[in-house]
Amino acid sequence: MERDIDRVLIGRDAIAARLDELAAEVAAALPVGPDGEPEPLMIVPILTGSFIFVADLVRRLPVRMQLSLMSVTSYPGTATRSRGSTVEEGLTKLPKSLAGQHVLVVDDILDTGGTLALVREVLGARGPASVETCVLLHKLRDDVKPPPADYTAFTIPDEFVVGYGLDYDGYYRNWPEIVTLKPEVTGVGGSDEVRGAGVGA
Ligand code: IMP
Ligand code: MG
Repeated sequence: MERDIDRVLIGRDAIAARLDELAAEVAAALPVGPDGEPEPLMIVPILTGSFIFVADLVRRLPVRMQLSLMSVTSYPGTATRSRGSTVEEGLTKLPKSLAGQHVLVVDDILDTGGTLALVREVLGARGPASVETCVLLHKLRDDVKPPPADYTAFTIPDEFVVGYGLDYDGYYRNWPEIVTLKPEVTGVGGSDEVRGAGVGA
């Protein structure tokens, strides 16, 4: 696995330090209930890419919270450009109603913005008190400029990255830093041909 890695974009220490700040920001922004305690949070991780980020984030949030999973696919197989987002119903476990709840959507990376737009629509239809979004990475692209998430850990240039939950064809999610892959691994020049039926999302 290591020989496929080209450059480390964000290392472990930088990730850990930024997550401390981000969790403090999220906790401080929670509305306070009548009992003087922050209102509980409903965290909605977007599978699969956010699984490491969300695990590290929630352990830094000393507030009452629940978790409901959503799965959205947008990068099938070996694609390195989004192919449009679809909710995977079988892996999505949302309560029918989110009435009165403060929802925080947590995703790995904001690229075209398609995933977060879709998720906001699905969640908004369930009547939450608020929906906010939190991403580990925001990829700065020249061609599309979606609205940023409410919370962003890092902005990165328009490059395909893996590690810390993010995959290429289902692999590299377990690499503990955010890295780029050598061009010969993804296909020279970042070709976004779909060559396999991999995992994505
Ligand atoms: P969007 O819908 O175009 O904003 O894409 C968001 C989803 O695409 C993310 O949740 C990832 O699953 C995937 N994605 C976007 N860029 C990358 C990348 O550089 N590496 C791995 N996955 C990515
Ligand atoms: Mg994803």
